[in-house]
Amino acid sequence: MKIALVGGTGDIGTGFAVRLGQKNEIIIGSRNVDKARESAAAVLQLLGEAADVRGTDNAGAVAAADVVVLCVPYEHLVSVTADLKDSYKSQLVISPVVPMIYNGSFFMYQPPAEGSAALQARSLLPDDVKVVSAFHTICASALQDIERVMKADVFICGDDAQAIDIAMELAGEIKSLRPLKAGPLAASSMVESLTPFLLNVARKNKIKDAGIAVVSERKS
Ligand SMILES: NC(=O)c1ccc[n+]([C@@H]2O[C@H](COP(=O)([O-])OP(=O)(O)OC[C@H]3O[C@@H](n4cnc5c(N)ncnc54)[C@H](OP(=O)(O)O)[C@@H]3O)[C@@H](O)[C@H]2O)c1
Repeated sequence: MKIALVGGTGDIGTGFAVRLGQKNEIIIGSRNVDKARESAAAVLQLLGEAADVRGTDNAGAVAAADVVVLCVPYEHLVSVTADLKDSYKSQLVISPVVPMIYNGSFFMYQPPAEGSAALQARSLLPDDVKVVSAFHTICASALQDIERVMKADVFICGDDAQAIDIAMELAGEIKSLRPLKAGPLAASSMVESLTPFLLNVARKNKIKDAGIAVVSERKS
């Protein structure tokens, strides 16, 4: 897969590059080409020169990719999506974007009028682009630590079965995340809202690099 990471120089983008760069071609996108190249060089140092990781501007990254992961803070989702609109041509877009605020006491989910970041992205992207939402509750620093065996589940929402399968396959490549289907894209608000919930629990209970996993209480 050719995977573009829009805003891939940041925390979660670096995590995706490190993990997904072991099996896929990664194109780190940035507003600044030099910054993207520096990020790619750092990832290559970790993965070895045989890995296929490069950096370019966000538009070039999107245009060259089969899969695009939106790795920008929610505040920039609208502007970045509008800026890159002409670079899309039927890619699969994965949104881990969480619209949330800190109200001085705790984190709160604050979705846009469309209902979720994923639905907002859907409304802004060309019709031939498939949108899947995933990875909202995955900790970026744990992703970046290539040796770390993760235990969390990845909740995936989408309306296209093939697109969901691709997102599940990519999530399954990351040791040992478990991809779980969580419903149509319209259900993404529930998954996105788990992130402020998780951050509040982590802060109150001093849990570092927190994640969420669904357990079965069935007697085995
Ligand atoms: N961090 C996590 O643990 C985590 C976990 C799950 C989901 N997420 C979601 O993943 C997304 C990215 O989170 P993050 O923590 O990786 O963010 P981040 O590190 O703060 O920023 C990511 C990148 O966004 C780009 N950016 C910053 N300001 C911008 C602007 N005005 N216009 C366009 N691009 C801009 C920057 O790239 P350039 O300067 O190179 O352009 C930056 O490196 C968020 O939506 C977040 O909700 C994060």
